[in-house]
Amino acid sequence: MHDFQERYQAYLSVFNGYLAEYMDNLSTKPSVLGEAMKYSLSAGGKRIRPVLALATAELLSVPSKEVLPFALALEMIHTYSLIHDDLPAMDDDDFRRGKPSNHKVFGEANAILAGDALLNTAYEICFNQCRKGDGYVRAAQILCECAGIDGMIAGQVADLSFSSGDKPLTQDDLLFIHEHKTGKLLLAPVAMVCALADDREYFKLEKFAKAFGLLFQITDDILDVVGDFEGMGKSIGKDVAEGKLTFVKLYGLEGAGARADLLAAECKAYLEGIEGEKTFFSDLVDYVRNRRN
Ligand code: IPE
Ligand code: IPE
Ligand code: MG
Ligand code: MG
Ligand code: MG
Repeated sequence: MHDFQERYQAYLSVFNGYLAEYMDNLSTKPSVLGEAMKYSLSAGGKRIRPVLALATAELLSVPSKEVLPFALALEMIHTYSLIHDDLPAMDDDDFRRGKPSNHKVFGEANAILAGDALLNTAYEICFNQCRKGDGYVRAAQILCECAGIDGMIAGQVADLSFSSGDKPLTQDDLLFIHEHKTGKLLLAPVAMVCALADDREYFKLEKFAKAFGLLFQITDDILDVVGDFEGMGKSIGKDVAEGKLTFVKLYGLEGAGARADLLAAECKAYLEGIEGEKTFFSDLVDYVRNRRN
């Protein structure tokens, strides 16, 4: 695990360096727009999506400089999804990444607009890559698909509509929510890099990423019950309070844990079929299964 932490930190510092440069050059009028964007972007977070993109790039021998713009666009979209997710009209959360939520600092209207700005800027970054060739166009298209009406947004709408509690809830409903609201933005880093690598290993890596995304959200559901504020940087116990459909709600803590174990094993089985050095990926699965943050 020592090597794993070192490698995670190495990917993280490459990404954070790129992000810092981007933010240094970002100036907006009115300035509050840029301040609200930077507040959430620089608040930290695990950066697991950019890390996964950079690890996939290394596995498929794609230079990291080709991947970084897409990793930044993805982290911007993820960050906007969190700003909006925390709004009173959605999950009504006061804390994110260990700090007051964006709307608590900048007000609801500015938080909505900062989210919109991050989304639009992400696409601008992608468009700027598209003239480099077909693989880049495909990578941009994958990010749009994963974030859009058949991706994260569909999952967020389902999450909200199922928590209104007027309909019996099934495992299919739960899988739809998790595979979309979280799964799609964890598939994106892998699928985008496959596109830049001429789709080599695509089918196997896609299976891995889908199982990994579901594992990630099951552990989020579990940590909403057993986690603590210091580790998570966000309020705990929100899912029960808001009547959310989660793995813990449907199967209990033990049942959710058992499903997380099965998915972790599934992720590792998919890795076996993939060529190359995959230790980091399999350690990443263990980290997500056992995470406290
Ligand atoms: C939180 O994502 C929202 C979910 C999809 C569960 P992360 O747990 O990746 O949040 P950060 O980026 O580390 O803050
Ligand atoms: C959020 O899921 C997924 C997003 C697209 C933001 P949650 O609502 O469970 O995420 P947290 O627990 O607030 O981070
Ligand atoms: Mg939510
Ligand atoms: Mg939430
Ligand atoms: Mg959650």
